[in-house]
Amino acid sequence: MAFHVLITDPLSEEGIQPLRQAENLEITIVTDLSKEALLQEVKYADALLVRSQTQVSRDVIEAASNLKIIGRAGVGVDNIDVEAATEHGIIVVNAPDGNTNSAAEHTIAMLTALARKIPQAFNSLKMGRWDRKTYIGVELKNKTLGVIGLGRIGAEVAARAKGQRMNVIAYDPFLTEEKAQKMGIGFGTVDDVLKVADFITVHTPLMKETRHLLNEEAFAKMKDGVQIINCARGGIIDEEALYDAIQSGKVAGAALDVFETEPFVDHPLLTLPQVIATPHLGASTVEAQESVAVDVSMDVVSFFNGEAVRNP
Ligand code: NAD
Ligand code: MLT
Repeated sequence: MAFHVLITDPLSEEGIQPLRQAENLEITIVTDLSKEALLQEVKYADALLVRSQTQVSRDVIEAASNLKIIGRAGVGVDNIDVEAATEHGIIVVNAPDGNTNSAAEHTIAMLTALARKIPQAFNSLKMGRWDRKTYIGVELKNKTLGVIGLGRIGAEVAARAKGQRMNVIAYDPFLTEEKAQKMGIGFGTVDDVLKVADFITVHTPLMKETRHLLNEEAFAKMKDGVQIINCARGGIIDEEALYDAIQSGKVAGAALDVFETEPFVDHPLLTLPQVIATPHLGASTVEAQESVAVDVSMDVVSFFNGEAVRNP
């Protein structure tokens, strides 16, 4: 008997080779589905593989009466109702390491582009303006980078920022002073980080405790002229509060890869010249996409062979 694997977001073709090679699996790839179409398609699926676009909500899980495993080709499982899946005996697996390096590199690219206003200067040049006055940046050297969430990506970002000769201070509930010392970085509470950082980058998951972690109150505690980077999840930053903080001059700039609602065609924050952005590209490299797709594909193959999965 063949098990039916449904893939509803674009995954690397190289990465899904383990699924193609398995004799007991049949694969269907259909992307950009409407909610109605998704509810139809999942009815026949034994496994569902997604990135961040497909919203695997309770009603999707309830419509999927054959579903046994959901694979998330990436880290964040905030687009999956894990509680509903668990209630229905469906296992959820992700790929926690496959895109760490790409997400950290993208964060550093955004930090540097923000400090030197590279996207704004490029746009201006494309409009035919040779303007060397407007786009004066700031150096990263000797500035303090505040890292909120020092997990896999946050730790990689901290190490790379030190290479830029930045001072780094981090907050994470699991960070100890001893570990921070070993990494050569400072250690403090969220408020300590907010108060001293020239740049703040967030790398927590999106969950109840981290929703709007950077809100009006948090912005008020920051240094004047602070710059913000979010390559983790929309929703960790209160976008309305960020808009107001930029308009008031409290925040000098922001680099955003992720947004509270994705995808979108226009966004109030993008009307501000101080904001640079990418459309959720943190993990969008050939290497990361292949790696995360291989990881979840291998877990799906193992699962249907009755073997243990690596990343439940
Ligand atoms: P991770 O689990 O390794 O690290 C997350 C860290 O956040 C942990 O150390 C945890 O202790 C910490 N944390 C939890 N609650 C916190 C709080 N209230 N305050 C401070 N720290 C807290 O995860 P990771 O692989 O480093 O990924 C981090 C985030 O980046 C996830 O949300 C993930 O989805 C997102 N991400 C985005 C992209 C992208 O394309 N932009 C790519 C990969 C990952
Ligand atoms: C993730 O959580 O891994 C990221 O959102 C990357 C992605 O899947 O696009």
